[in-house]
Amino acid sequence: MGSGARMGSSSGRRTIPGYPRHRVPSRGIRRSSHPVASGGAQPPPAAARPPPGGHTARVERGRALVVGASSDIGRAIAVELAELGHDLSLWGRDADRLGRTADACGAAHRATVDVTDHGAVAGAVGDVVARGPLTAVVWAAGLFDWAAADDADAAAWVSLLEVNLVAAAVTTRLVLPALLEAAPSALVYLGSAASRQAFAHNAAYVASKHGLAGLAGGVFLDVRDRGVKVALVAPGLVAAGAGLDSPAGRHPERLLQPSDVAAAVRFVVTSSPTACPTEIHLQPQLTP
Ligand SMILES: NC(=O)c1ccc[n+]([C@@H]2O[C@H](COP(=O)([O-])OP(=O)(O)OC[C@H]3O[C@@H](n4cnc5c(N)ncnc54)[C@H](OP(=O)(O)O)[C@@H]3O)[C@@H](O)[C@H]2O)c1
Repeated sequence: MGSGARMGSSSGRRTIPGYPRHRVPSRGIRRSSHPVASGGAQPPPAAARPPPGGHTARVERGRALVVGASSDIGRAIAVELAELGHDLSLWGRDADRLGRTADACGAAHRATVDVTDHGAVAGAVGDVVARGPLTAVVWAAGLFDWAAADDADAAAWVSLLEVNLVAAAVTTRLVLPALLEAAPSALVYLGSAASRQAFAHNAAYVASKHGLAGLAGGVFLDVRDRGVKVALVAPGLVAAGAGLDSPAGRHPERLLQPSDVAAAVRFVVTSSPTACPTEIHLQPQLTP
């Protein structure tokens, strides 16, 4: 655990309404704080740097949490939000990949969190909220499967649904009080073309991403009048992660790029106070 994380989790911690600290076990999570990158890295934009004296003063855009920040898509989103002026909190399981994202952002709080450990998620949300107003959350964690329904591994389906849908719902419940308190704010889910369309050999993934679309739609109706934008960003094949493992991944230049997804997230969080882009579909310009 880094010293910055200890400071952030000591005095001044706020509890999440409905989730008092004493109910939150802290197992399954390692926390660290990443200092401003050194060496040849570019300095972060001024608005993304901590103010003199640390994180006690509110930065212009507040804090953004990116869940699944260790992926290439999550990294592009985190960089985009840092450039917009958000302070960043980054979650993932792979500490090395998470570190690369923190380096790319210039400065970020990061935590190694397994989103299927709901107690750990509750504790990690508490750590994030203790650092200041939470004005954006991007849910980018996800698992992929590739098997015919009659040949799939049922345990793999359970894991996929637990990450892609159950953990998304639990995390939503945990971050919403902070997003409402800090409103205007935004909650963005990374869906997929599979959020509205079925694909063969992909049933559990399709089900999870359809579920995520339903979650986003329902949450929007519950919080829209209190200043929280809720959006589903639904890309087709991206030159990252599972997209590169697909047959179309042999020509990544024909696919969406992680920066395209990040630009859609930026569009949501910077949209007018009188509008919410509830669902954004992206397809590669070229046939994959
Ligand atoms: N690639 C595409 O073509 C494409 C298209 C549409 C939508 N998407 C969506 O984009 C997102 C990223 O996917 P990707 O294809 O880029 O795959 P990826 O590189 O494998 O990224 C998956 C992300 O989810 C995180 N994750 C998985 N299980 C987790 C768990 N139990 N706890 C915490 N984090 C967990 C991973 O963290 P760790 O690696 O640190 O474990 C990683 O950051 C997913 O939601 C996916 O559905 C991808």
